[in-house]
Amino acid sequence: MRATTARLSLAFLLTFILAIAGSVIAVKQHDFKKCHQSSFCRRNRQLADRAAEVPEWNAPYALDPASISVDSGVLTGAVLKSINGGAETVELPLTVSFLASGVARVTLDEKKRQLGEIELNNDRIRKERYNEAEKWSIVGGLDADSSIDSSAIFANDEVTVVKYGPAKNFEAVITHSPFSLKFIRDGEEQVVLNDRGLINMEHWRPRDSTPEEGVDQDGLFDESFSGKSDTKPRGPESVGLDISFIGYDHVFGIPEHASPLSLRETRGGGDGAYDEPYRLYNLDVFEYEFDSPMSLYGAIPFMQAHKKGGDVAVFWLNGAETWIDVVKKRAEKTTTQTHWFSESGLLDVFVFLGPTAEENIKSYSQLTGTTALPQTFSIAYHQCRWNYLSQDDVAQVDAKFDEHDIPYDVIWLDVEHTDGKRYLTWDEANFPEPEKMLEALDKKQRKLVNIVDPHIKKDDDYHVYQGAKANDVIVKDNNGNNYEGWCWPGSSVWVDFFKPKAVDWWKSLMTYDAYKGSAKNLYVWNDMNEPAVFSGPEITMPKDNIHEGGWEHRDIHNINGMVFHNATALALMNRDGDKPLRPFVLTRSFFAGTQRISASWTGDNLGNWEHLAVSIPMVLSNGIAGMTFTGADVGGFFGNPSPELLARWYQVGAFYPFFRAHAHIDTKRREPWLAGEPWTGYMKEAIRGRYRLLPTWYTAFRRASVDGMPVLRPMYLAFPDVEEGFGIDDQFFLGDSGILAKPVTKEGVDSVSVWLGDEQPYYDYSNYDVHQGKGQTIVYAPIDKTPMLIQGGNIFVRRDRSRRSSPAMKYDPFTLIVALDKDGNAKGRFYLDDGETFDYNGGAYVERTFTFDGKKGTLRSDSLNDPVPAEYLKNMERVRVEKVIIVGANGQQLGDVHAVDVLQGGKKWETEVEYVKSGDGKARVLTVRDPAVRITEDWTLQLRVGKNEL
Ligand code: NOJ
Repeated sequence: MRATTARLSLAFLLTFILAIAGSVIAVKQHDFKKCHQSSFCRRNRQLADRAAEVPEWNAPYALDPASISVDSGVLTGAVLKSINGGAETVELPLTVSFLASGVARVTLDEKKRQLGEIELNNDRIRKERYNEAEKWSIVGGLDADSSIDSSAIFANDEVTVVKYGPAKNFEAVITHSPFSLKFIRDGEEQVVLNDRGLINMEHWRPRDSTPEEGVDQDGLFDESFSGKSDTKPRGPESVGLDISFIGYDHVFGIPEHASPLSLRETRGGGDGAYDEPYRLYNLDVFEYEFDSPMSLYGAIPFMQAHKKGGDVAVFWLNGAETWIDVVKKRAEKTTTQTHWFSESGLLDVFVFLGPTAEENIKSYSQLTGTTALPQTFSIAYHQCRWNYLSQDDVAQVDAKFDEHDIPYDVIWLDVEHTDGKRYLTWDEANFPEPEKMLEALDKKQRKLVNIVDPHIKKDDDYHVYQGAKANDVIVKDNNGNNYEGWCWPGSSVWVDFFKPKAVDWWKSLMTYDAYKGSAKNLYVWNDMNEPAVFSGPEITMPKDNIHEGGWEHRDIHNINGMVFHNATALALMNRDGDKPLRPFVLTRSFFAGTQRISASWTGDNLGNWEHLAVSIPMVLSNGIAGMTFTGADVGGFFGNPSPELLARWYQVGAFYPFFRAHAHIDTKRREPWLAGEPWTGYMKEAIRGRYRLLPTWYTAFRRASVDGMPVLRPMYLAFPDVEEGFGIDDQFFLGDSGILAKPVTKEGVDSVSVWLGDEQPYYDYSNYDVHQGKGQTIVYAPIDKTPMLIQGGNIFVRRDRSRRSSPAMKYDPFTLIVALDKDGNAKGRFYLDDGETFDYNGGAYVERTFTFDGKKGTLRSDSLNDPVPAEYLKNMERVRVEKVIIVGANGQQLGDVHAVDVLQGGKKWETEVEYVKSGDGKARVLTVRDPAVRITEDWTLQLRVGKNEL
């Protein structure tokens, strides 16, 4: 035992020395599997090769027509896989559910495993295929369309056809032999499952069975990587399927990868193709590459396909290691062929037929949930580093922000704040009075976030370890003993949050009494929850570890991080009894569903220009897959960015939904004031710009929380019919605001080329220069400026007074920016609530539309929420609009306005205007001064032109 510990210590020391050396910055490829080193990946790719080589390849899978029945929207049947040259068959129960939302769900299981008629070499393990991904990931949208029954289908010996969807314009054509499924919309084929015959349910077989013809036997029953073995008690059990998107050139999604938004080919070498499949296996990848299909910390197996005129999507519900190959077949129209394979579990795939991306995102959100509406502070600016070393350090950093007049809301403490990496404790020498520290922050309405990692130091005197042992909530190894591995604190154990009692126990650890020194303004950062295990295979947990219910870690690996941050969020809510505030938890690992609970970030990026650039497609990709509350470490985690890079990073960061600066322990300090002027000023302006736009960000988050639309919108969502935009991933719209940003991500640049997807006028955000005409336009972007345009036709809201933190802005007045379209009209939407409680669920919010009618010369504000609880109205009564800036391209009307009538609550008063004449490509700008309308009530502004009202 001692020898093992000594070996581990040495290994840890070496890892640590290498980790901090920092001089050679490159991912350690050899720590992570390539496809050929993962036996099921190899086998599934080999199957694809065989299928491509054999003319007329047919998958040996057939749906038995006699087994088919349809009831209340669900088709069931038996797919038979023939093995041993047809001598035997394996029964695979099939369900195809036609959901009321128009989504179809296809599942395939394995009868023998279902019935437990198999033998395993480890009786602690469940015999079934893992079938609980749904339990953790899905929260709704599963009701089947009960109007579909056997009378609604057409069937003969060869095919079964089901018409479905809200308008019954979708069809599922199930070919019985070989088994395949075609999904048709309005008579056109869209998605085909098993188009290429790559379906593969690796059935259970005894170790001594006759090898399947053509199947690589290496690694079927055990395999090892980097000297670490995997006992694979259930033998091979991967599930694979090819999914073709007919006529679709672009596919997006399946984060998390540091790669472009439009997914590249992974086989067959197209333009910029990768040679490895995209991998989804949550991992702690040290110094990851900026252009790679390698796995990172999170996994969302949701893919969208987009073309002019329509969208489709698939959601592959599986929490095990998964790989996805992408190949494009270019003919008159390109078809994207994808090939998915997971190591274990059910085949469980949802097919979305749109017809728009928005509808697919909405349906996906119905299934896995929408982004939780965040507290306002959490979408403001966060200051982090590994580490702020003491409470004096925290106080000094905090004071410096005020000294430099830079707003910030949250300061973060990394692992060093604890007593020897024992989470939920404090290093008493450096943080002797955490209550006082939290109180001082609270006085300025600021928050603290403490890191709480999932590894628990194995120390009999540590209350968390004692509790984990006493409650028997520790993940087991394959022998049923508490699993021990190595992480920051040395020898550690991991809590199995799949156990309900682990969640209850975790809650009890975070009450204000139990978590000494904690307070209401303390929130939590769950890092390392892939989980990262320094001594484990691929720096994570062995796959044959055992969780609640006898499931192997293999089955739930990608879900594991989510159950941890879920427990933390529940614990934070629990500490405030029946009046909880919205929890804030940052998680590194995520899965489909994390968006309901936590924010995430893109992990340990590098402080270089390439990583700055790739952070944008990464954040966009997370966003379209539901996980919109994300950002990258501003400045880059590793390395020391130049002042220029840092300033540009702040400008990009001000557009991350989650905006946090962070840095590795070995980097130089880089808080915004340290670079000195002029750099500090640039960073300060980027942060202040974010604060001014917080109401618009919050409105975008509200939309995300209602129907899943991402806070940042890539061009294919904004201009779904304009093909040139589909591959663009370095510019984006902020929600529905019309703000189009293309932050600078290159060194020494003072202009960028922005792509415009329509013929509307676009106004430069800072000086109202007009850009018009579809295609590229050059926007001037010296170092003090983020290239931002406002698309004509939109109205958004700002709060222009600078405060030290976002809660201090609560009653500040608003400024409306009205950017007119080419016909002189504009509209917008606005959402506001208390920004911290759940009272909005009871209607305590303001939601309004703004409409500018160019012909009538009116700007109206109309409520979308009626009635609003009186208490909230009273509280917000004093909040006014202090300025309306109307930006018009040609603005004939705007030129002659000399006053404005204001109408609210049956009263009418007049206010002044001021306008700036257009000149040299600038828009006319009319400023309505202090209309003083209450934000909580409807109002109208009537522009007066000459002697007449317009
Ligand atoms: C890894 C995280 O990605 C990083 O942000 C953090 O600073 C370190 N762990 C130390 O906790």
